[in-house]
Amino acid sequence: MRWTTAKIRQSFLDFFAARGHTIVPSASLIPKGDPTLLFTNAGMVQFKDYFLGVRSPQHLRVADCQKCLRISGKHNDLEAVGRDTYHHTFFEMLGNWSFGDYYKQEAIRWHWELITKVWEIDPKLLYATVHKDDKEAEDIWLKMGVLPRERILRFGDKDNFWEMGETGPCGPNSEISIDRGEGACLPEKNHPGQKCFVNVDGCERFIEIGNLVFIQYNRDASGALMPLAKKHVDTGTGLERTTAALQSIETGKILGNYDIDLFQMIINTIDEITNVARIVIPGSKTPVVPSYGTSPENDISFRAIADHARTISFLVAEGLNPGNTDRDYVLRRLIRRAARHGRYLGIHEPFLAKICDSVRYAMGEAYPELGKHSARIRKVVTEEEVRFGETLDRGLELIDTELARIKKSGGRMLSGEVAFKLYDTYGFPLDLTEDVLRNHLIEVDVAGFNRLMDEQKERGRAARKDDAVAPEISLGTGTASRFIGYHRYEGESEVLAAGGKDGEHVAVVVAETPFYPEGGGQVGDRGVIETASGAILEVSDTRKAEGSIVHVGRIIHGEAGDFARGARVKLKVDRIRRDAAMLNHSATHILHYALRDILGNTVHQAGSLVDPDKLRFDFAHAGPVKDDALATIEEEINARIRENAEVTTEEMAYDDAIKAGALAFFGDKYGDRVRVVRMGDFSVELCGGTHISRTGDVGVFKLEAESGVAAGVRRIEAVTGQGALETIRKREKILEEIGAQLGARDGAAIERLEKLLAREKELEKKLRAMEQKLAAGAGGAAAEEEVREAGGIKIVTRKLDGVDPRTMREMADRLRQKHGSAVVALGSDLGDGKVAILVAVTPDLTAKIKAGDIIKNIAPIVGGTGGGRPDLAQAGGRDASKLDEALAKVAALVQ
Ligand code: ALA
Repeated sequence: MRWTTAKIRQSFLDFFAARGHTIVPSASLIPKGDPTLLFTNAGMVQFKDYFLGVRSPQHLRVADCQKCLRISGKHNDLEAVGRDTYHHTFFEMLGNWSFGDYYKQEAIRWHWELITKVWEIDPKLLYATVHKDDKEAEDIWLKMGVLPRERILRFGDKDNFWEMGETGPCGPNSEISIDRGEGACLPEKNHPGQKCFVNVDGCERFIEIGNLVFIQYNRDASGALMPLAKKHVDTGTGLERTTAALQSIETGKILGNYDIDLFQMIINTIDEITNVARIVIPGSKTPVVPSYGTSPENDISFRAIADHARTISFLVAEGLNPGNTDRDYVLRRLIRRAARHGRYLGIHEPFLAKICDSVRYAMGEAYPELGKHSARIRKVVTEEEVRFGETLDRGLELIDTELARIKKSGGRMLSGEVAFKLYDTYGFPLDLTEDVLRNHLIEVDVAGFNRLMDEQKERGRAARKDDAVAPEISLGTGTASRFIGYHRYEGESEVLAAGGKDGEHVAVVVAETPFYPEGGGQVGDRGVIETASGAILEVSDTRKAEGSIVHVGRIIHGEAGDFARGARVKLKVDRIRRDAAMLNHSATHILHYALRDILGNTVHQAGSLVDPDKLRFDFAHAGPVKDDALATIEEEINARIRENAEVTTEEMAYDDAIKAGALAFFGDKYGDRVRVVRMGDFSVELCGGTHISRTGDVGVFKLEAESGVAAGVRRIEAVTGQGALETIRKREKILEEIGAQLGARDGAAIERLEKLLAREKELEKKLRAMEQKLAAGAGGAAAEEEVREAGGIKIVTRKLDGVDPRTMREMADRLRQKHGSAVVALGSDLGDGKVAILVAVTPDLTAKIKAGDIIKNIAPIVGGTGGGRPDLAQAGGRDASKLDEALAKVAALVQ
């Protein structure tokens, strides 16, 4: 094949590199520091700040191939995935950018050249669209003279104005579409009477293979379009659909995205698994093995699984774990949807790890992270699949029952209650339930579902002890504050905004504050704010909000009015608390370094909490950290503390910081200029937190615990400085106490303890013996032992109550000893009709009389069977009422 996916990817990059573009790597699927977006949904996401002028680019022309997810927010294709042949949740987007450099002219010309000269697509198959008001773009197309006027089409905002989300950079665009011929037209039933054309939905004949956006606005939070200082170009070309178009031309077949070389291996793997499963499709007489391309219904599942496996692989490779919120929940939903499609194809065993393996084979060369994290991907996926598998079948059954009921009553809607039960009890995300029902044209009462969800949340909220009263405060222009507390604990400033709840709980924003607002895992400062008139606000927390630093607290002297806008105030941070938090914060940097040094660079931070008492550090790592590794980590950290390395902070350009190897954390938003914290020659991190000036200030670092918080995420808890000392003292006290109780100290205490434990064992043994003796005496006897003679042989029988077989043997031994030469027969009523019988014969008699023979004869009387040696035999039975009869028969048998 000439145009493999890999070759198309490379040809695009080569083309733009030759035109002055710097090729950059794909950014993470998780946008760094952009709270408006859950996932990277377009190539331009990583450049958003360049468009907005927040940061300045190093290169004015850039091109790349970007991993994209369209599964949330404004661009969400999840519902279409599987149902057609060209939507994906994950896809690769080829893009080239101009940051205030070239504009429409070059963007359009170059794309035309790429498509028609490099990829050699016949211009006769192509169409261009422009925004109806974009005369400039239309003229460029017309002047180029490559397309007749009737194939240069005008559309409105819906089709030709591109926006990344509800807010952000946007502008009019020009798209290039290809006509793939009538053969690509979907069956008439999909769109009866429709005339297929460019920008008409529901058909696969006209497909867009190039989107050139002319970014010139920013849509702000109020919805208004604000013109940008410079004009930019942002383009996007879906790699999979371009490949499908080129491979269709090359092979003369109409290929969908899932037919291209890249997907073949993935689809084949699903085929192999269904083949092994040899599934019987309901309603069919002969076993049929679902294969891709043989049934439209099954094909939906094949495509959905192939799609989801890619998304899942990349998300797990980026460090996500299935969970119940935000991104984690998206991952969970995808794994569960894929598992459900597996069930549709008759697969009942966990299978997704295998599909993810095939994703790695197909894409690992272009995306090495898939290989690097393959073990984790397999593990995380399988665990979630198993977890869901336990309830999946029962959930599907419930849906079937409900469906039957709804259809019978002529309804069209599944109740919110059932949807909620599916969610709550069977783990069905709402969209999964909706997806299952879509085929039956049944909807879900989403409002009802949401109501029940809210009620559940409310119950959870009420159950949580929530004593933090959050007063409302309105922030806007002119309320931005500056943090001045890196090296100070006190300051003076003016109130810019204030809000209150009940006259007592207030929120205050000042122009300059030494209070550190919660961030980077470090808790917000506490302290007091005072006015000259003596009003005092006790600050219980400090937080960041929209460029302002908000102090939240309680008025302990004066009234809310004393802290109104314009008031002059003195601010004092609780220094002891801040310093303790600072030690712990610096310690997390040393810990982060040590983890990477000892466990490897795959370790990366997943979250942290730094408060005055302790630190908590979450990081991606497969499996528990072994004890000896933990000891080494603790030693390494303390060695770095003793090294007393200098801690320096420096502001620099973001790009320079990254180049210098600074570790950045996803959760944070970074501007053009960033703060870099260095410790000696071993640690460089982007961080806005407060830090000590030398590592020695930490004093000592003591690991407290290592545990798992989610699949693939470990947590380390530790204490430092004074906190560590206190913890060690506390433990020492416990040891002292133990020593005092034992009457010995240190090593001697252990020896003493060992002795005590040995003695305890011995005593236990003795106790047991005593109990047995007791049972053998009066305790378990339902009757006295009877002694009689038959044929000159002594026969001893005894009926017992609730004595177990083991104790019966001990009793028999004693009776044999006592009587010297005898046949001993015991019967015990064990309750519920059950009995145990035993016959023992002294050695002098075993030649003549065998215990086993006697048991064989009397066991049937109590409804049992048994046997044994000549000297000892036992049996169980089920008829306690015949116990006397059985024992009486022994004499007759001996005779
Ligand atoms: N940003 C544009 C898109 O995603 C190019 O389609």
